[in-house]
Amino acid sequence: QGQVAELSLDSHHAECENSLRSADWFGRTDDPGMKALYVERYLNWGYTREELCSGKPIIGIAQSGSDLAPCNRHHIELAKRVREGIRSAGAIAFEFPTHPIQETGRRPTAALDRNLAAMALAEVLMGYPLDGVVLLTGCDKTTPAFLMAAAQVNIPAICLNVGPMLNGWSRGSRVGSGSVIWKARELHAAGEINDDQFVDMVADGTPSPGHCNTMGTALTMNTLMEALGMTLPGSAAIPAPYRQRSHAAYETGLRIVDLVRKNIRPRDILTREAFENAIVVNTAIGGSTNAPIHLLAVAAHLGVPIDMEDWDELGFHVPLIVNMQPAGEMLSEDYYHAGGLPAVIAELVAADILPHPEAMTVNGKTLGENAQGKTTWDRRTIKTVRNPLKKDAGFLHLHGNLFDSAIMKMSVASGEFRKEFLEDPRDPNAFTCDVAVFDGPEDYKARLDKADIHARTILIMRGVGPLGYPGAAEVVNMHAPSALLKQGIRDLPCIGDGRQSGTSGSPSILNASPEAADGGNLALVRDGDKVRVDLNKRRVDLMVTGAVLEARRKELDEQGGYRVPRSQTYWQDLHRREVGPLSEGGGAVVAVSWRNSHTR
Ligand code: FES
Ligand code: MG
Repeated sequence: QGQVAELSLDSHHAECENSLRSADWFGRTDDPGMKALYVERYLNWGYTREELCSGKPIIGIAQSGSDLAPCNRHHIELAKRVREGIRSAGAIAFEFPTHPIQETGRRPTAALDRNLAAMALAEVLMGYPLDGVVLLTGCDKTTPAFLMAAAQVNIPAICLNVGPMLNGWSRGSRVGSGSVIWKARELHAAGEINDDQFVDMVADGTPSPGHCNTMGTALTMNTLMEALGMTLPGSAAIPAPYRQRSHAAYETGLRIVDLVRKNIRPRDILTREAFENAIVVNTAIGGSTNAPIHLLAVAAHLGVPIDMEDWDELGFHVPLIVNMQPAGEMLSEDYYHAGGLPAVIAELVAADILPHPEAMTVNGKTLGENAQGKTTWDRRTIKTVRNPLKKDAGFLHLHGNLFDSAIMKMSVASGEFRKEFLEDPRDPNAFTCDVAVFDGPEDYKARLDKADIHARTILIMRGVGPLGYPGAAEVVNMHAPSALLKQGIRDLPCIGDGRQSGTSGSPSILNASPEAADGGNLALVRDGDKVRVDLNKRRVDLMVTGAVLEARRKELDEQGGYRVPRSQTYWQDLHRREVGPLSEGGGAVVAVSWRNSHTR
């Protein structure tokens, strides 16, 4: 039997519904030698021939928790309940490790790992006897990475979030993991806390197992997985240590076996309509500026057409109705008790602003059906669409002579920021600023307090995109220098070709593409230039003539172009050769070149 031919995507998809993929290894081969070879090591591990060869579905559990990945570590416990669910449904579980992605511990940036983990997982799903897979997601990039893999291989899949940690508390107030660091940084820079107090304050934000308890990138991405239909309804918000999380793990194990038996695959669920729902939900929850990058990358693996304009067109006018840090005050436990995503969806459906309530989800019901009868239990945390925290709370998609694409998250533009920068009655949505420009975070740290920066300076961070850093670091959100912090000035607008942490509340212009290292005009900015931002026109322009830009480009070319740090590993080098701009998902190129070359 031609093993290789039978394992290809297209021939597999054409097979009849009831024939299991794992039978290519353990069942329908007429070559007893191959079958013996496939079976013997799994028998050796302890599975019996009855388990392997009697036609039970074999379900992978993609384990992302480890000592290196503490945000997802609780999955080591949850996987046991997933396994029991799989077993109860009459199938066999094969748990395996994935490439670790820990947002906070990985240098130079965990962004390097998303595409690597996605490709590695796709190889595992394609190459081993798996009929379906449970994706154990959590920390920021684990979720998109695993979805990119599942989208590529398209075997039945379901996500299980590790769950957010409990609320953090410090001195009687809620302090969010991730978010508290920005506050602590400012206090430290202003000399109000010492080094030890800095660490203590930040650690108070992380009181238990789980991913970040703010509406940072982790909770955003897992909420969007639920909105896309890839997670059991209501499960994304359950805090990691709650018993309900363990129940969700068991039920996820039961459900994946159903998905295999009914042959329901990621591409049946992850449609253009599902992505439109996710874009609207992202604004309603105050979701992370990393969401467009990750969803664009997933969509590229599916061939679903989504671009940055869609985020502005479909998402900008949606109101913010979830009151969570960093856009608001509350944390994940409050969000869960208020009703989580089903309550949010019910509010959006009631106001008729969810574009596709009829979109199908992994539990076999539509997104709208799953939200029927769901109630918001706490109006401090989940508001109504009529009486939101903020109107027009989505992302603006910006362009101009500095870049073709960048976004700004309006849900975090604070009252002071609006007063300071946007309340000129002659031009209420535009401002002009002097520029201070930094080449990467090291340069910023070294020069921040020495640079010429005042209350109306815009800070520019360049050289931190997918090619520049490499991976695209979360360093665009910069605080003001100590002298300004002491005067109470915190929010200086920022522009950058890198990313910003989803936990940051800074009104930044992010993900600028093309990046400085890829021929973008950010490389031509100089200290003392002026930038004009016009939010109505969606424009950001450097106030110099085209001739000046041309002369500076020539000068830079003569010096050998914009310089970036060397690659430290082979993967960093390969990543730099393959990666696309953030405006296309920062990784889509890998998928596109793969799809184009995969012809039969
Ligand atoms: Fe892992 Fe926030 S750092 S979830
Ligand atoms: Mg992050």
